Amino acid sequence: MYDMHGETVHFDTENNRLCLIDQTKLPNETVILSLHTAEEIYTAIARLQVRGAPAIGVAAAIGLAVLANESAAEASAEFEAEFRKNAAYLISARPTAVNLPWAVGEMQKAFSENRHKSLPEIKAALTRCALGLHAADIDVCRRIGEYGAPLLKNCRAVLTHCNAGRLAAVKYGTALAPVYIAKAQGHAVSVYADETRPLLQGARLTAYELQAAGIEVTAICDNMASYVMQNKLVDAVLVGCDRVARNGDTANKIGTSGVAALAKYYGIPFYVCAPYSTIDFSISSGAEIPIEQRDGAEIGEMWYQIPMLPKGVRTLNPAFDVTDRSLITAFITEKGVLQPSEF
Ligand code: MRU
Repeated sequence: MYDMHGETVHFDTENNRLCLIDQTKLPNETVILSLHTAEEIYTAIARLQVRGAPAIGVAAAIGLAVLANESAAEASAEFEAEFRKNAAYLISARPTAVNLPWAVGEMQKAFSENRHKSLPEIKAALTRCALGLHAADIDVCRRIGEYGAPLLKNCRAVLTHCNAGRLAAVKYGTALAPVYIAKAQGHAVSVYADETRPLLQGARLTAYELQAAGIEVTAICDNMASYVMQNKLVDAVLVGCDRVARNGDTANKIGTSGVAALAKYYGIPFYVCAPYSTIDFSISSGAEIPIEQRDGAEIGEMWYQIPMLPKGVRTLNPAFDVTDRSLITAFITEKGVLQPSEF
């Protein structure tokens, strides 16, 4: 098996491939995907073989570099048309996480800054930019962990929703980074993981990666979060995010806003772990965040041996919801623990 160097997303520069752990196969099988066509990369993002806001951004950037290196174009106009077409195609794979257009935008900047150079030089610049975004993600997530760990000093356990851990980024993750760093500093915090219907990122991915890291994890169904808070089993909530508006309204995995409302009711701090690449300074409130609607088959069929919905029943399957900023205690970013007015 290809060595991913402990990473979820990797650039195999020797063979010019985007390498990913196929998250649709976890926790039962560890399958490494090695991708080099636009369709493969688009599909991996759209089908959630790679998922989590930071991970899809880095995957798209590496994907664009791989596609540029594969290009047979000899004229710069032809190369540029191909590059722009691939960039638009990859951005269209998922609408909510702003990291995807952000990372592609960084690649577009690298292209523009080098467009007067030879094609081999442009390709090298795109490769450097993708590697830089990959390295930056590791650094940013580690810093989120370092700022977040002190907030957990008096915590025995935290609740999290979806997967915003190592599998959602290149290495540490965002919401689980404080837990990983606290452990490294000698403070064990146990984690309650919402299973996160309908795609079960909490059960399949968060429980899997925490168990693998030797961190105590307890899986619960989504409708058990109130029980867990009411019985004082958790001292804080940590979640990731896909897009944060200027005012602090935050889109994250469907169900997050309900967890935030519960936390407010029970007086439990609710922290959003947010790399700056997830803050969308172009929008003023959460009302402007596009919410991905996914196939209803994910609700009634996809994970079951037999259908769990009567044939013909309508479904509604929004993949994200927006948590009002008033429910968020603070944002743990790579620049510190902040309120939206300090972004
Ligand atoms: O649909 P997914 O699995 O990509 O949704 C992921 C989430 O909602 C995460 O919480 C978010 O992307 C933050 S990941 C650090």
